Amino acid sequence: MAPTFRILFAPTVAGNEHTGELFSRKRPLKGADTVDVTERIRSFLGHTIELSEILASLKRGELPTALAYAGKSGAKAWAELVSSEGYGLGKIETDLIARHAGGIIVSECGETSILDVGCGNGMKALPLLAELMKTFGTARYVAIDAFEPMIALAMANIKKTLKKVRSTGEIVNFEKGNFSQLTRIIRAETGRPNLLLFLGNTVGNCRSPDQVLTNLRESMAPEDRLLIGTELITGDNLAALTEHYKSKANNDNIFNSLHILGIKQKDGEFRISYNPTASRVEAKFVMRTEKKFFIDGQEVVLAKGQEILLMFSHKYTRESLNSLLKSNGFETVKTFSNEDGNYFLILVKPVKY
Ligand SMILES: C[S@@+](CC[C@H](N)C(=O)[O-])C[C@H]1O[C@@H](n2cnc3c(N)ncnc32)[C@H](O)[C@@H]1O
Repeated sequence: MAPTFRILFAPTVAGNEHTGELFSRKRPLKGADTVDVTERIRSFLGHTIELSEILASLKRGELPTALAYAGKSGAKAWAELVSSEGYGLGKIETDLIARHAGGIIVSECGETSILDVGCGNGMKALPLLAELMKTFGTARYVAIDAFEPMIALAMANIKKTLKKVRSTGEIVNFEKGNFSQLTRIIRAETGRPNLLLFLGNTVGNCRSPDQVLTNLRESMAPEDRLLIGTELITGDNLAALTEHYKSKANNDNIFNSLHILGIKQKDGEFRISYNPTASRVEAKFVMRTEKKFFIDGQEVVLAKGQEILLMFSHKYTRESLNSLLKSNGFETVKTFSNEDGNYFLILVKPVKY
């Protein structure tokens, strides 16, 4: 059966008839089986992601990947996933950073503030901060994320291990625009350049990597650096790419997006696949039963058999990543990869302002 997906026009209070407007602002009459999840969603998202963005994504049969990390449940699920053996990529990247912390800090960046963009649980910044403390006796950490609970988790983790690091947190949606005001303040406060971290394959989760890289570049001064971490396609690891995403921890993480909408895991099943045309791992949820709810005055019906794309992770080759960075105004300073050659850290500097 071809899955169907409908966003229905909400009946209005006055007439109980369709308004004909796509985004009716009028309050819907709720059917007995249709709950309004607007306030529930707001309680997870704060104001960094708009309801209209969720509705627009749902119309395409997907949800913004960022929702996987929203709220306390999102922070907890990511912390469990990133340290889980099944996922594995968290440990590979953390080990790689730890092995090259001296090279990154002492040889390349010098005394720098660490701005952890899409900070997650903050653990990957620890080796770099430890290196800064060892070499310069001081370190400055800024946890940057769309979600407050994630920022709180990252800052707590840094404080637990490196008590003397001065850390602060900032709510920023890096997909929306540059955050040069913030980076300028940090630079002025410390008198040092910034090292922006963009780790954990996050570049591959973005709908528009070009836009996000532009936002990052516009937030940088010539002396700043950006460290990107991502899994690579090596030619013989295509089958293995999906394996990282086939675990309960991964399901729990990506399902957070639907949990926010009040859906339960028993309402459907997960489908993980590699899409060779888009060079990306895709994680979908296929509805087993129909679910209806209202978001911001609009009725959403997830039909039985409906597939919802919850997460994608674009996979780059070395060449495609280099070319993406170059076309967005970055020049490579240094690269680091693991022994298997399937994980890559690339330190870049901005060349266009
Ligand atoms: C894949 S996780 C990576 C976390 C961490 N960098 C790591 O490598 O462990 C993506 C992170 O980016 C954050 N994030 C996702 N989309 C975002 C957005 N548009 N703006 C700000 N943060 C976002 C998530 O909340 C999450 O902390």
